[in-house]
Amino acid sequence: MKRATLTLAAILASPLAAAGCSDLIDDSVGASDNFALGDAIAGTNATQFAAAKANFGLTETQQDGLGPIFNERSCSACHSNGAIGGAGQNIERRYGTLTNGVFNGLANTGGSLRQLFGIGGFNPSPGVNCNSGTDANPAPGATIFAGRMTTPTFGLGLVELIPDGTLQGIASAQPASIRGIAVDNVIQLTSGPFSRGQHHVARFGWKAVHASLADFAGDAYLNEMGITTTSCANGQVIRDFATENRANRAPTNAVINGCPDDLAPGVDDDFAAEENNCAGGLTEVQDDVANFAFFMRNLAPAPRGVDNSNGRGLTEFNREGCNGCHVTTTFTVTANGRGQSFQPFSDFLVHDMGTLGDGIGNDGDSVAVTRRMRTAPLWGIRFRNGLLHDARTSDKSAAIQAHDGQGAAARNAFNGATSAQRNDLLLFLSSL
Ligand code: HEC
Ligand code: HEC
Repeated sequence: MKRATLTLAAILASPLAAAGCSDLIDDSVGASDNFALGDAIAGTNATQFAAAKANFGLTETQQDGLGPIFNERSCSACHSNGAIGGAGQNIERRYGTLTNGVFNGLANTGGSLRQLFGIGGFNPSPGVNCNSGTDANPAPGATIFAGRMTTPTFGLGLVELIPDGTLQGIASAQPASIRGIAVDNVIQLTSGPFSRGQHHVARFGWKAVHASLADFAGDAYLNEMGITTTSCANGQVIRDFATENRANRAPTNAVINGCPDDLAPGVDDDFAAEENNCAGGLTEVQDDVANFAFFMRNLAPAPRGVDNSNGRGLTEFNREGCNGCHVTTTFTVTANGRGQSFQPFSDFLVHDMGTLGDGIGNDGDSVAVTRRMRTAPLWGIRFRNGLLHDARTSDKSAAIQAHDGQGAAARNAFNGATSAQRNDLLLFLSSL
C-alpha cells in the first residue's frame, strides 16, 4: 500500500523517536575508532544518525501504507540482534520451481519471496469492504523451498564503498577451483555514490543481489513491509519499488479479492504525481528509504573481541583455505571524508557451494547458478545465533562442515585437522 512520506523533522518531532533517542545516541559516535555495537562510524552527524535510526525502528501501520501483504512492521523488527541494524531470528521463506530445467520464481503466485501476513480487512473507500488475503503455503506449483536468515547491516556502508575493481581483482587472483563471480548489478536509485543505470558489483544479501544500500532499502520496504515508494532521478520518476505484492497473485495492477489495492484503482502508487514533484531535474530518494540508507551507511562494523587462540586460529584459518573466500584483506575506503579501515572476512563474490546452495535464483537461471551463494562476511559472528543462509545451525563446526562445492576442500581440511587445531580455529572465529 502506498506510503505518505515521513520527513526527518517529523521523526524528530514524533513522541516515539523522542522517547528512543536519548539512549540511542552514544557519546562515542564519531569520536573514536573503537566502536561499540550499533555506533556510527567516525564523522557521522549524531543527530541525523539518531533520526535515521529511529526511522529504521519505526513501526508502520496500515495508515502508513503497510501491506496488503508483509513480513514485519519495521526494519528493526527483524534487524535487531545486539543493536538496531543487527541480524535477526526471522527466517524468510523463498520458493520456486524448475521449468524446463531452469529456475522459475513463480511470480504469478507471489514468488519467490513469501509474505507471511496480510492486513486482512481494509476499506479503500467508505462502504467498500476488502480483504488482502495471505500467501498460500505452500504456493501452488512450488517445489523448491529455502529459508533466508536476517543478516546484520553493521559496517555495510563501508562495504558499499569498496571499488568494483578490488572485488574483481580478488576474483581474478583466486585459484580456479574456488574462483568466485562478481555479480553485475544495475543501480536503481540515484543515492550516495551511485547514479541510476550505473553498473556495480552486487555485494549485499545472501546471494549478492544489490550493490547499493538505498536499492536494498527500497526493495526491503516493498517486499518485507508492503510499503511502496517512488523517487526522482534527474527529473525522471523512478517507480522500481512502486508495485504492490498481492497474496499469491501476479505483481500486476490487479485487484485483491475484487477490491482495488490502493487509492487509485488500476493505477499503481504514483507518488510522483501526488507527492514527488520531480520537475526541474530533481534528484531525490523517498524520505524513509533515504533515512534507512543513511542509517546503514553510517553504522559501524561490529567491534572485534579477544582472540583466545593467541593468533594460532588465524594461522589455521589460512592453512585450511578459509581465507580463499573469507579473505583476510583489510579494506580502506573514504567515508565521511576520512579513511576508514575494516576487515569483513569476505570477498563479496558468489561461489558454487554445491549442496549448501539454496536452489533459488532469478527466472531463467540454470541449476548451477542457483547454487551460488555470497561468501558470508564473518565479522560480527560472535554476536550471531543462527548460522548459514537458513540458520540451520548455531554451531560453527556444523556450519563449516556444511560447506560443499567450491568450499569442499576447506571443509575437508577442517575435518582432517586435529582437535587442537579445530579448537584454535573456533576460538579465532569467536573473536570476530
Ligand atoms: C521480515 C524480516 C525483515 C524485515 C522487516 C527487513 N529485513 Fe532486511 N533482511 C532480512 C533478511 C531475511 C535478509 C537476508 C535476505 C537475503 O539475502 O535473502 C535481509 C537483508 C538485508 C540487507 C542486506 C544485508 C547484507 O548482509 O548484505 C539489508 C541492507 C537490509 N536487509 C535492509 C533492510 C531495511 C532497510 C529494512 C526496512 C525497510 C529491512 N531490511 C527490513 C529480513 C528483514
Ligand atoms: C569457496 C568459498 C568458501 C570457503 C573456501 C570457505 N567458505 Fe565459509 N562460507 C562461504 C559461503 C558462500 C558461505 C555462505 C553459505 C550459505 O549459508 O549458504 C559461508 C559461510 C560460512 C559460515 C557461516 C557464516 C554465517 O554468516 O552464517 C562460517 C562460520 C564459515 N563460512 C566459515 C568458514 C571456515 C572456517 C572456512 C575454512 C574451513 C570456510 N568458511 C571456507 C564460502 C566459503
